[in-house]
Amino acid sequence: MMATSIPELRWPQITAHLRQALGAADSPLSAYLYDLEALRRHASATAGSLPPGFELFYAIKANSDLPILQTLAPLTHGFEISSGGELAWVREHFADAPLIFSGPGKTDAELAAALDLRVEALHVESQHELERLAWLARTRGVVAPVLLRVNLAVEGLQATTLMMGGKPTPFGIAGNQLPGCLAWLREHPEIRLRGFHFHLMSHQLDAAAHVRLLEAYLQQVRRWRAEYGLQTLDQINVGGGIGVNYREPEQQFDWPAFAGALSGLSAQRDGLTVRFECGRYITAFCGYYAMEVIDVKQAFDRPFVVARGGTHHFRTPYAQGHSHPFRVLPVETWRYPFARPEVSHACVSVVGQLCTPKDLLAHDAPVERVRAGDLLVFPYAGAYAWHISHHDFLRHPHPQHYYLPTEDVHAAG
Ligand SMILES: Cc1ncc(COP(=O)(O)O)c(C=O)c1O
Repeated sequence: MMATSIPELRWPQITAHLRQALGAADSPLSAYLYDLEALRRHASATAGSLPPGFELFYAIKANSDLPILQTLAPLTHGFEISSGGELAWVREHFADAPLIFSGPGKTDAELAAALDLRVEALHVESQHELERLAWLARTRGVVAPVLLRVNLAVEGLQATTLMMGGKPTPFGIAGNQLPGCLAWLREHPEIRLRGFHFHLMSHQLDAAAHVRLLEAYLQQVRRWRAEYGLQTLDQINVGGGIGVNYREPEQQFDWPAFAGALSGLSAQRDGLTVRFECGRYITAFCGYYAMEVIDVKQAFDRPFVVARGGTHHFRTPYAQGHSHPFRVLPVETWRYPFARPEVSHACVSVVGQLCTPKDLLAHDAPVERVRAGDLLVFPYAGAYAWHISHHDFLRHPHPQHYYLPTEDVHAAG
């Protein structure tokens, strides 16, 4: 069911860079390190495996750092944005990148900016949003390109741990309201209906189940086209949602099998382009969060490792409710004239510097040995990590951010 192609973690490069950073640091280190070369390889393999008619956009909410976007811009078809802030950020640095705009609660200012800054398609979430967009388009004398986001009830839908649709949620237009929207659109030429948008879930780890879900989307769109005589469609956006298996990192979403199965769906596209807007699966594997151990202590029968930083930098484990995998990088330097706290052959809890027991990054985690002054390195920290964290709680310093550059692929030639 799950398997097999696991994006590369380049530990030798990561370790060497972190040891260098540690040597240069004048206080305990906490840092994010992003491996742009690994990102380049993974994104180009992912995008390159798609058959004709399928396109990959990157959902920048997962990680919108400029070096990440610069690495991904030439490898993807464009960016998916979900706020006026993301729109301004992307347009400031990528004047011509194709953009699609999703997300609930868009303001008039955001809708207007999307029209003015040449967003390719707005994914509309409700009838009221549609009416406001039409009103703004009319006042500008332009036609707004739109996909209707539909919250679809899919028979036999296999749920994941994070569902955005297929049940009552704030996202999209409920399937039973669609006929009303389509009737309204027939009277409003200032909106051009380009297609439908679905993003029912995140954390999908089952490639076969995801193929079935896409098939259900394609069949549904085919039925709507026939039933409502929709003439202007040119695309279906099937969202993102491909998961990362933090609990069992050796068992990742089988992207090669998934991409292989897409060719079989081609006939059902009916000539429409199918777009993905993936976030987590694209950038999670390139990021590492490193924390220097400040203390090792025992509380009753439990060993705790207290490290520089915490969930205010790296909220992913708490947000997903998992114990995040990590490696211990032994550091031999010890600056004090007294004993070094340590624990060996034990299962530890790793915590940060926040005054709450919720500041927990790993628990029941087996370690051979960990000492104060060692470095803990958490992989799979490139998506929904720094960007979803509550950075200023307790006003601790922010972590360092390092980017290992891409290798010059043209140098040899
Ligand atoms: C509408 C929409 N598209 C795409 C994404 C990206 O999802 P993921 O990072 O799981 O691929 C999200 C994430 O919440 C989303 O809400």
